[in-house]
Amino acid sequence: MSDRKLITAALPYANGPVHIGHLAGVYVPADVYARFQRRLGKDVAFICGSDEHGIPITIRARKEGVAPQDIVDKYHTIIKKSFEDLGISFDYYSRTTSPKHYEVSQDFFLNLYNKGKFIEEVSEQYFDEQAGEFLADRYIVGTCPNCGNENAYGDQCEKCGSTLSPSELINPHSMLSGNIPVLKPTKNWYFPLNEYENFLNKWIIEGHKNDWKTNVYGQVKSWLSEGLKPRAMTRDLNWGVPVPLPDAEGKVLYVWFDAPIGYISFTQEWAEKTGKNWKDYWQNENSELVHFIGKDNIVFHCIIFPSMMKAHGDYILPQNVPAFEFLNLENDKISTSRNWAVWANEYVEEFPGQQDVLRYALLSSAPETKDNNFTWKDFQTKNNSELVGIFGNFINRVAVLTHKYYDGIIPQGNVEAPELAEIRKTAEEIHGFLEKFEFRNALSALMNLARFGNQYLQTEEPWKTIKTDPEKTAATLYVSAQIAVALAQLCEPFMPFSSDKLLKMFAVEKADWSAIEENSSLIGSGHRINEATLLFSKIEDDVIDAQIKKLQDTKANNMKTNTDAEAAKKEITFDDFEKIDLRTATILEAEKVEKADKLLKFKVDTGVDIRTVVSGVAQSFSPEELIGKQVMILLNLAPRKIRGIESQGMFLLTTKPDGKLSFVTPDDPVANGVSIG
Ligand code: MF3
Ligand code: ZN
Repeated sequence: MSDRKLITAALPYANGPVHIGHLAGVYVPADVYARFQRRLGKDVAFICGSDEHGIPITIRARKEGVAPQDIVDKYHTIIKKSFEDLGISFDYYSRTTSPKHYEVSQDFFLNLYNKGKFIEEVSEQYFDEQAGEFLADRYIVGTCPNCGNENAYGDQCEKCGSTLSPSELINPHSMLSGNIPVLKPTKNWYFPLNEYENFLNKWIIEGHKNDWKTNVYGQVKSWLSEGLKPRAMTRDLNWGVPVPLPDAEGKVLYVWFDAPIGYISFTQEWAEKTGKNWKDYWQNENSELVHFIGKDNIVFHCIIFPSMMKAHGDYILPQNVPAFEFLNLENDKISTSRNWAVWANEYVEEFPGQQDVLRYALLSSAPETKDNNFTWKDFQTKNNSELVGIFGNFINRVAVLTHKYYDGIIPQGNVEAPELAEIRKTAEEIHGFLEKFEFRNALSALMNLARFGNQYLQTEEPWKTIKTDPEKTAATLYVSAQIAVALAQLCEPFMPFSSDKLLKMFAVEKADWSAIEENSSLIGSGHRINEATLLFSKIEDDVIDAQIKKLQDTKANNMKTNTDAEAAKKEITFDDFEKIDLRTATILEAEKVEKADKLLKFKVDTGVDIRTVVSGVAQSFSPEELIGKQVMILLNLAPRKIRGIESQGMFLLTTKPDGKLSFVTPDDPVANGVSIG
C-alpha cells in the first residue's frame, strides 16, 4: 500500500458555471475520497483547474461577442469560487492558460516529438477562405444526412444524436462567414494510438479486470476491440497552446493533449508554492494516481493520456479511473445551453449555509453505475427526513440531555459497552466502501449509525430512567455521546461543514480514521461539551416550489422562439371567440384627422356596409398609400368617439421590428365581408 495519493478531478471547461451534474459525477465524490485519504494519514495531492482551451470556449465567446480570454477569466473565477464555497478541498486549483502549463505541455509535446513518437501527416481540412481560418468540425453546419436537421454540426447532429464528420453534411457552410468551406491541405502531428493497443490490453484488459468499475472497463474494452487509429494532437486553430515547432505557425496543441497534462503542470505549480517535490507524486512507484471523471471522459483518461504517458516513459499510470454516469435533473438531461441545470453558484446563494445538504443529496443519488435523477422533492425529503429527522435529531437529543442532566459533562459509562462495536463496524464499512468508490453505500453506512443511535435512545429511554435508575441514564448517555462524536468524525468526508460544527460542539479534535476503527472511546467521561447548535433545519414547501417554478420557467422560455414576446393572455372559450365578428374589408377613403398627428380617418367597405373608422396609423402610413388596401376589421366592437368622430370598428394591425405598424391582410385578394376564423 502506498502512502501517497495523487487525486485528480476532470478539469471543467471554463465555458459556464458548474452544475449539480458535474458535482455529483466528479467533484463531490472526488472530494469525499480525498478527505477520506487524508484521514487515513495519506500524503494527498488533490489537483484540479479550469480547462480553458478547446472549441466549447471559442463557441461561447462568439455567442457572447467577446474574446475567449474574457470567457475563461469570467468562468474560471465563478467555478473556483463555487468549489471553495462547497468545500471541495483541492490542494491546488489552477487553469490551463497559466504560463507554467504552457511550458509543461509544450515540453511534453517536444519530449514525444524528439523521441519520434508522432507521425507527421498532411491532410485536407475545411478552410473558410473569407475568415482565413481552418474550421473545427463544430464550426461547420449543414443538413444531417440521417434526420434532415438543417442545423447539424460537423461532428454531431444534436437532433438525432448521430456522430458525423463534416464531409457527411449536406450543404455544409462555415459558422464564421456562412460561406461554403473549401478543402485545403495542412500538416499536423498524429499520435499513433494503434501502436499502444498491446500495452493497453495488458495493462487494463488483463490487469484491471477486477478492480476497475465495470462501466469503465467495458468502455475501454469496446474501444480496443474496434481497434485504435492515429489521432491528431495538433490543430489549426488560434486558441490554445502553440505547437512548439518552427514550422507550426497557426497551430495549437489539441485540447485533449494539453488538458490532462494540466494535472502535471498544476502539481508542479503547487509543489513550487509549498516546497514539495512534484516528482514524488508523478514519477514514483510509491504514489497512487486516481482520476475522477464523467463517463464521456473515459477514452481520454484510460486510452489517450495513459498512452502519452507510456510514450514519455517517466510517469506512473493511474491506479484507477472511477468514472461516473450522468445525473439528470427532474427527468431531463442536464444542459448548459438549454439552461437546464441547478448551478452551483446559484445554489450557494439561494441556500446559504446549506452546502452539506446539497453534498448529501448529490452523494446519495450519485450516478455510480447508471444514470440517476435529481429532483427537488427528493432533495427536500433527504433534508427533512434524513438530515433533520435522523442525523440532526439524534445528535441534538444527546447534546440537550447531556446539558440537562449533567451540565454538559460526559457522565461515567462503560468503555466496553457492546453497542460501541457499532462505531468500529461503521468506520470499517465506510472505509471498505470508499476504497471501492462506492459512495452511496458509504453514506448509507454513516446514516445507519445515526439510525442506530436513535433506536438506542428510544429503547433505553434515559428521560425515564433518570428518575428510577440514574446510573443507567449515565451509561446510556455515555454510549450515546460516543456515537454522536463518531458521527461528527465519520461524516467529515461527506459533510465537512457539519462535521466542523459538531466537533466544536463536542469540543473534540479531528481523529485519525484508524483510531475510530480501533477504539470506540471517542470522548471521555468528564469532558465538557459546548452548547448545542442547530445543524440542519427543515426546508419548507415554498422554498422547493420556488425552485421547481424556476425550472418550469426555463422550460417555457426554451419553447418560445421570441423571448421578448408578451406573456400569453388568459384562455377563452370557443363561445367567447364566436362572439367576435372579424371580416375582410377595403379602404375606400383615407384622410388626416386635424390636430391629431397619429390619427387617420377612413371610409371602409366592409361588405355589409360602408363605415367610418378612426385608427392611429398616421405615423406609419400616408393616407394616399392606403386607399384601395384590403384589410381586416373587427366589425362588432362597440362604436367609440375619437376626436369627435365616431369610429365604427377596429383594424387588425401588428408592429414591425422597426416599431412601425403593419396591416394584417389576406395573402390573396378576397371579397369584402368574408369572415375570418
Ligand atoms: N474539460 C473536459 C470536460 O469537461 C475535461 C478535461 S479533463 C482533462 O469534459 F483531463 F483533460 F483535463
Ligand atoms: Zn440528425
